Amino acid sequence: MNNNTLSSRGEKLAGSPARVDMELFFEAAQNLYCPETNPDGAFLLNVAENHLMSGTIRKELTDISSSNSIPDWVLNYTDPAGHPEVRDTLALFMKKYLCKCPVDPGTIGFSAGAAAIIELSSFILADKEDVVVIPAPSYPVYTGDIGIKSGLERYDLQTHFNIEETGSAAPVTIQVLEETKKELGAKGKNFKILLITSPDNPTGCMYGKAQLRDLAKWCIKNGVHMVVNEIYAFSQIDTSDTFISADYKEDYNYSSFANVMNDLGSEYLHLWYGLSKDFAMSGLRFGIIHSLNQDLMNAFRNGNIPHMVSNHTQWMIGELFKRDNFLEKYIQENKKQVTSSYKEVVKTLRRIGLPYVPARGSLFIWADLSRYLGQDTDQGQEDLWIEIYKKTGVLLTPGAGFGHQKKGLFRIVHSALPTSHLKVAMEKLEKHLLTI
Ligand SMILES: Cc1ncc(COP(=O)(O)O)c(C=O)c1O
Repeated sequence: MNNNTLSSRGEKLAGSPARVDMELFFEAAQNLYCPETNPDGAFLLNVAENHLMSGTIRKELTDISSSNSIPDWVLNYTDPAGHPEVRDTLALFMKKYLCKCPVDPGTIGFSAGAAAIIELSSFILADKEDVVVIPAPSYPVYTGDIGIKSGLERYDLQTHFNIEETGSAAPVTIQVLEETKKELGAKGKNFKILLITSPDNPTGCMYGKAQLRDLAKWCIKNGVHMVVNEIYAFSQIDTSDTFISADYKEDYNYSSFANVMNDLGSEYLHLWYGLSKDFAMSGLRFGIIHSLNQDLMNAFRNGNIPHMVSNHTQWMIGELFKRDNFLEKYIQENKKQVTSSYKEVVKTLRRIGLPYVPARGSLFIWADLSRYLGQDTDQGQEDLWIEIYKKTGVLLTPGAGFGHQKKGLFRIVHSALPTSHLKVAMEKLEKHLLTI
């Protein structure tokens, strides 16, 4: 007798945890460090959240809720791409702060988190078994977001082995894309999407305008969709800070992909954004797609009903993003805070002498702990990860799932704890690593 009660898809999913660190995360979350009550507790440095700014956001949202009554539309159905007034507000925000170029409200749509945006746009842009090329290392959850429902394949593009080879430079070049296309073509695979994250998760590198334009032109010529995920756009590190400035070899100015999209006006270019990171609101679930491809936006509207952001959240976000005074101060303060927590981890890594990628943005440091591996394998990497957690309470994200060829690299989230707790976590990590 067949005991399966689920579809074959459901069976597969039931046995596929969304993240390798899920189980330890839940364990650690029950035992969090507190200097007074739980000094031997755990430090969650594996989840990409910005707790440095959550108090500021909470205060502003509380003010919005308490000083306004909820408009009628909030209780009703609305445009599946997002309520028109809120899209007007967010398009203005994108024009003024994120993209610094015109953004038509008709070219944006909202879903419940960037994850939903990624899932739906992958579904719309490519067919089952088409390949999404992602420079390695990269966000592990892309695999499920593009794969579970749409059946797209992730291809981890290896551009280097040791992190010193690239430093803070963004690694994808036209030559690499040509080679990849050839290699995939020889295997009968269809290179359908190039997915760039800028600032990047986990390396914190950022793509410059000229580089994005070159990649975009190549993609258009080759009929490949190019998507840039800018979910960490405002989580930028102040690279002029004298403590870290020597880490950066080249000058760099951030420019949103939206500028390239506007200049080239192509149906192959798209941008993702979300409020989970820069705006410390991962629980509110708010993701944004921006594309000049009207067919894509029509498909998005028709397919987005199961993924819509609640109208109550849309309303609050709309009110928040009308507050220009708040936004200007918030963006500056966020950069200050993110830079300060980043430096705290850099201090420790430098003291231990561990290689790391100098980040220009994001909430992470990607560090090389390979010298501590018992064996140079996936198992060796997992063993080291668990050992660090058991001995220090510090839960990192192991390299597994990021798709990078070298073992022993770990992602450290520096924005998830108050600085005083982060300092203790770093002391414990340093003390333990020095004993190995
Ligand atoms: C690059 C990237 N994209 C998307 C997401 C998911 O964001 P959301 O919480 O808005 O679904 C994350 C979360 O870590 C991320 O790092």
